[in-house]
Amino acid sequence: MIPAGLPIGTRLDDGSDVVLDPRKFNRHTFWCGQSGSGKTYALGVVLEQLLARTALPLLVLDPNADFTRIDEAAPGAESAGAVDPSDLRILHSTGPAAPRLQTRFVDLSVAAKAAVLQLDPIRDSEEFNVLLHSQQDASTFDQDDFLARLRASGDAGQQRLATRIENLQVLDWELWARGGESVTDVLDTRPRATVMDLGGFSHPVEPKVAALSVLEHLWRHRDERRPVLIVIDEAHNICPPDPTTAVERALVEQVIQIAAEGRKFGLWLLLSTQRPTKIHPNVLSQCDNLCLMRMNAPRDLAELADVFGFVPEDQLQRSPGFAQGQALFAGGFIGAPSLVQMGARLTREGGSDVAVPLTGI
Ligand SMILES: Nc1ncnc2c1ncn2[C@@H]1O[C@H](COP(=O)(O)OP(=O)(O)O)[C@@H](O)[C@H]1O
Ligand SMILES: [Mg+2]
Repeated sequence: MIPAGLPIGTRLDDGSDVVLDPRKFNRHTFWCGQSGSGKTYALGVVLEQLLARTALPLLVLDPNADFTRIDEAAPGAESAGAVDPSDLRILHSTGPAAPRLQTRFVDLSVAAKAAVLQLDPIRDSEEFNVLLHSQQDASTFDQDDFLARLRASGDAGQQRLATRIENLQVLDWELWARGGESVTDVLDTRPRATVMDLGGFSHPVEPKVAALSVLEHLWRHRDERRPVLIVIDEAHNICPPDPTTAVERALVEQVIQIAAEGRKFGLWLLLSTQRPTKIHPNVLSQCDNLCLMRMNAPRDLAELADVFGFVPEDQLQRSPGFAQGQALFAGGFIGAPSLVQMGARLTREGGSDVAVPLTGI
């Protein structure tokens, strides 16, 4: 059966309708354009269509709370689409909204735990060894109890680990589920879409650990071959070319692994960022679909021409002239490379642009 295409807008040259082939989201997709070119808006148009016309589950890593209202109809739209809002799970970190985006330390891999605690297996060998051998059961693990036991052990390595955990103040993070529902529990219920609002944490490492925990979880369960489209907006936060901290390195490694080997397990990436050089080259080189919005720098366009050799050069050169909401689509998900005016959103944009106060306070 040939599925219905996803209508996303109209061709710039003749105004005809443009549809994407949903079957080709089984490849990785790169989405780029300068800030304000309309990436997040356009991404929303495509995600709404995937929700309405396919059964592909979406996982959205959302750094600016842009997708936290995809369960509400946009002003002027008749409805938010065909999906039952209860099948959209929006996990918050911004503001007081519930449910919260949370995860469990005990569910992280040893490498990820060590990264969170800035432990080196050689330099901090004793502490690392304690971590390695502390097999906590996720269902019964109590963080305060864990710390108390380390302290009471009389063992130097355990006590040092306790001091480290206290000094880094990681137990204070809002991210920890503390007996509540973890984002990985939510993913396992297979909602149509899971939105992870990453922007509201007080510690800059928390959103990265949140991302690492879900990507590790998906990778650990890859043999189940349950397809999911992993959408990463502002992907330079998640897979930069030059990770500097241990958590960033673990995260980049995990994304590279999914980019290289995830396709056959149904783990498909859609990465959005401002320029091609802002994400790791080993991830970029695995992308087969391209959406390019306005981008000025000739160097960036040359880089794209290099990576996406199948895109006609003259079409890439149109990009600096794009107005907001205009894009070049190329790759398997569109028949032939096409210049597109994006259609309108069906659901509400989230985000939180703050208006300049123009009248007295
Ligand atoms: N096609 C469009 N139609 C209407 N408004 C748009 C469109 N594209 C973008 N906008 C608006 O322009 C602003 C910037 O767009 P956004 O998608 O956030 O850009 P980017 O993610 O590339 O920085 C947002 O306020 C958005 O509502
Ligand atoms: Mg954006």
